[in-house]
Amino acid sequence: MNPVFNRILYGGDYNPNQWPRNVWKEDMEIFKDAHINSATINVFSWAKIQPSEETYDFSELDDIIDMLGRENYDIVLATSTAALPAWMVKRYPEVMRTDYEGRAHKFGGRHNACPNSPVFQGFAKKLAGKLAKRYGSNPHIACWHISNEYGGECYCENCAKAFRVWLREKYKTIEAVNKAWNMEFWGHTLYDWDEIVLPNALSDGIGYDKTAFAGLSIDYCRFNSDSLLANFKMERDAVREFDKETPITTNLMGTYKALDYFKWAKEMDVVSWDNYPSYNTPWSQTAMRHDLMRGLKGAPFMLMEQTPSQQNWQRYNSLKRPGQMRAQSYQTIAHGADTIQFFQLRRSVGGCEKFHGAVIAHAGTKDTRVFREVKQLGEELERLDMLLGAENKAEVGIVFDWDNYWALEYTSGPNVDITYVGTIHQYYEFFYRKNIAVDMIPVDADFGKYKLIVAPVLYMVKQGMKEALERFVAGGGILVTTYMSGIVGESDNVHLGGYPGPLRKLAGVWVEEIDALAPEQKNKAVFVDGGEAECGLVCDLMHLEGAESLADYGKDFYAGMPAVTKNTFGNGAVFYVGTRLSKDGLDRVLGQVVKQADVTSVIAQETELEVVCRETQSTKFYFIMNFKDGEYPVPACFAGKTDLLTDEVIKEGEILKKYEVRLVKM
Ligand code: GLA
Ligand code: ZN
Repeated sequence: MNPVFNRILYGGDYNPNQWPRNVWKEDMEIFKDAHINSATINVFSWAKIQPSEETYDFSELDDIIDMLGRENYDIVLATSTAALPAWMVKRYPEVMRTDYEGRAHKFGGRHNACPNSPVFQGFAKKLAGKLAKRYGSNPHIACWHISNEYGGECYCENCAKAFRVWLREKYKTIEAVNKAWNMEFWGHTLYDWDEIVLPNALSDGIGYDKTAFAGLSIDYCRFNSDSLLANFKMERDAVREFDKETPITTNLMGTYKALDYFKWAKEMDVVSWDNYPSYNTPWSQTAMRHDLMRGLKGAPFMLMEQTPSQQNWQRYNSLKRPGQMRAQSYQTIAHGADTIQFFQLRRSVGGCEKFHGAVIAHAGTKDTRVFREVKQLGEELERLDMLLGAENKAEVGIVFDWDNYWALEYTSGPNVDITYVGTIHQYYEFFYRKNIAVDMIPVDADFGKYKLIVAPVLYMVKQGMKEALERFVAGGGILVTTYMSGIVGESDNVHLGGYPGPLRKLAGVWVEEIDALAPEQKNKAVFVDGGEAECGLVCDLMHLEGAESLADYGKDFYAGMPAVTKNTFGNGAVFYVGTRLSKDGLDRVLGQVVKQADVTSVIAQETELEVVCRETQSTKFYFIMNFKDGEYPVPACFAGKTDLLTDEVIKEGEILKKYEVRLVKM
């Protein structure tokens, strides 16, 4: 794949505007020593570059860009629109958001603009255009960074009006709205568009997480995602007017719930994202998020932010252990990143992020553990440009879908503990552990590219999905799906005629009832060979309609009913997992699945290490990483190869300690 950049960008958020100029000089010298070649600037400088409605002042930004240009940096230039200046809020209070509780906000915070405020839009667009006009032809600008971490919601009157317009376009008639949201329930029937209100704590929201009318709330999620996306597109287009070429991105946040990133990615030239695992985030979960970010465009992505040491905003901001930042960075590259950027380059003096890790600590010196590790990585990355654009290939696709994310978690019943990302991750983790490469794919992906599609909790089956899955399986594909699948259509109304609705024929089962189990309640799945595994959360009570049972429930009044099934359909097969299985239970099922699908691991040998492959047309690059507490040998197939990071030949039986990494070319 053609790489977006000419070299691996290595650097990150840099805020010289928060520092006196004598510090800038020191910065340049220190960063050079760390082999830093890129800086993301102007992320939160709106008040500085536009001190009032009538005046713009780019003099300091000019100097920063000149300085970075002289040092041959690849500059990631942000548009600064993610935090509103005080003067704007004073003069136009409507630019601020109204929250879920219906409170109109005052000046403060960030990510605080109402996306549907024409005043905000006007100022943001103008600023983006001015920046592009001024700097768009500067060869050192490597990438545009629109706003910052788009997110959140607004429930103001401007948004309500815009929502009605959005709905009119989608549904055409108010009758269609009533039908979609099933408004006959509780007598909520609407007779006029202006009777529609936003679903928050003042109306149909139940807490922040639940809702009385999921159809309405899901439409609001779609609308809100679209509103913020419209803000992005507006600034992007303003930049494009003056700069036709430089790639444009905005930094995403992995499995962040509020934005439909598959839709967003279509509008972005390159995906970038911010990776902030906490001390107890499983490495498989971070890997999954990388795969998702790569999956958004099916292309390498930018790692826009990570901390070199610790965060400040988590409950427990533990230090990264020696070697951890390096290992995390290689995992990121292994899963498709072409850049490694930090938040931030110099630790700030005040504000809530003063304890956030940075390349330069408050001590202001190079003589720190963190700096030495940043420098080592910089030296290594400088020699790895051959990785740019290399692809990750997978035979397995795991479906991820924001509509499903919203719908599943809005659902009232059967069990409050069902989570979308958690369930997807339970399935992903199996493949991660087996070093089987996975693509995270949208519901409208080309399934034919894969041998195996895994679609856990495919709660909402939208138009066309049934046919696409049937085609895939009939053609020889293997599909895995689970409880809470095939239940509703795109407005959250149930597919009548028995669960799993449109997937019933495909799965060859009818789910008559769904039991919910509290955390302390368990059932068990008894496999046909007599093996047993614990299960819980929900138990589908199902009848075979052509499928065979792979495991039956072992307890309760539905003991003996199937818990896991397999149905042959055309040339392929569908595995239906009717309950949340324990790890060993799921291992059994997915073990059988990968055998039948003839899916292979990245390397033949089983290992406790994470092994990931990225490939160009001529070369395969293998990343071999240890994220476990134990020490494990490098798989035998790599013995005798040269580690590209150290230039040392890997010895047979060589041991990798926690956070050690090898990179091998084949
Ligand atoms: C986010 C933001 C940054 C910074 C970091 C701190 O990712 O984009 O501005 O606040 O968090 O972790
Ligand atoms: Zn608003």
